Amino acid sequence: MKRIGVVGLGLIGARHAQAVLAHDGAALACVVDPDAALRARFDVPGFAALADVDLPLDGVILATPTALHADQACLALGRGWPVIVEKPLAGDLAGADRIVAAQASTGLPVLTGHHRRHRADVQALRALVQGGAIGRPVTASCLWAMKKPDTYFQTAWRQGREGSPVMLNLVHDIDVLRFVLGDVTGVQAMAGASLRGATARSESGAVMLRFDSGAVASIAFADTTPSPWGFEAGTGENPNIATTGQDMLFIAGTGGAVSFPSLTLWRGAADWGEPPMAQRHDAGPSDTLGAQLTHFLAVIDGAPPLIDAADARATLATTLAVETALAVQSEAP
Ligand SMILES: NC(=O)c1ccc[n+]([C@@H]2O[C@H](COP(=O)([O-])OP(=O)(O)OC[C@H]3O[C@@H](n4cnc5c(N)ncnc54)[C@H](O)[C@@H]3O)[C@@H](O)[C@H]2O)c1
Repeated sequence: MKRIGVVGLGLIGARHAQAVLAHDGAALACVVDPDAALRARFDVPGFAALADVDLPLDGVILATPTALHADQACLALGRGWPVIVEKPLAGDLAGADRIVAAQASTGLPVLTGHHRRHRADVQALRALVQGGAIGRPVTASCLWAMKKPDTYFQTAWRQGREGSPVMLNLVHDIDVLRFVLGDVTGVQAMAGASLRGATARSESGAVMLRFDSGAVASIAFADTTPSPWGFEAGTGENPNIATTGQDMLFIAGTGGAVSFPSLTLWRGAADWGEPPMAQRHDAGPSDTLGAQLTHFLAVIDGAPPLIDAADARATLATTLAVETALAVQSEAP
């Protein structure tokens, strides 16, 4: 049994702690949060700060506000603890660079919490696309149009840039697109109107990405729209978000197309005069956080992380480039 500490017991940290409790190979050794009431929900030793932990641990899961990730990841690695750092890896590239450097200097692994990479359906999508099932990927379109409850923004750190749907949600979609289509070489974006009156963060927008293969993708996003389209709604991966089962990612190539999460493959048409035939693939269910935790236990034993700090830094760099592009509003000619 690996002794795991969970740091931060908010929305996602509480789910990590439950995942550790439910896992056969892990024991919840301690929880860390300045909020004593949150610590009291778990019948294990609790600490107000990571620096106070005086127990032997085999690994740490950091689920704290993004601005704390760099300091806490470096502290954990310095104590000799492999770490899962929730996404985004850090609030800026300087923070990400400190984590990458600490990973290198300690020789200890960092797994970043881009948990979608651990899903069977995401891995099946990647295998289909990279295996040539749609020929050469040419273009992709992704939708993330959810409505977050107003109470979500009462938490102070979510009112600034780190609470934007780009930093919190699109960072996942960008990472899935990188996982499936490869590295990003170009970014453009345009912000939509502010409906909540947020000034320090975006609420909606349209993003364009170019990949080193020459493929391009668009992402339309909003956190003000109660639509059925978004990764969590489509896959049912998050118990806090209602499931619709609708597709939200469409990838077209020279030999066909695939939509996700239904994993519907469209093939067989030579050109637009012929109808492509649809074929569904079933990747089976995924316990996303459980699968990530199983992988983390293997990483502690020496397996390479599915997404280490350097790889997550690349996802963060694209995400921050989107934020920068959103801030530049161009006028129609
Ligand atoms: N992987 C995912 O799907 C997913 C989902 C939600 C959030 N996240 C990420 O997880 C992180 C946390 O997000 P959240 O929505 O759970 O936030 P949250 O505000 O709900 O929870 C953060 C928790 O950290 C605690 N905290 C604050 N300072 C601390 C400190 N110094 N030491 C220990 N704990 C401290 C707070 O008391 C709070 O309980 C963010 O980086 C976010 O981007 C990831």
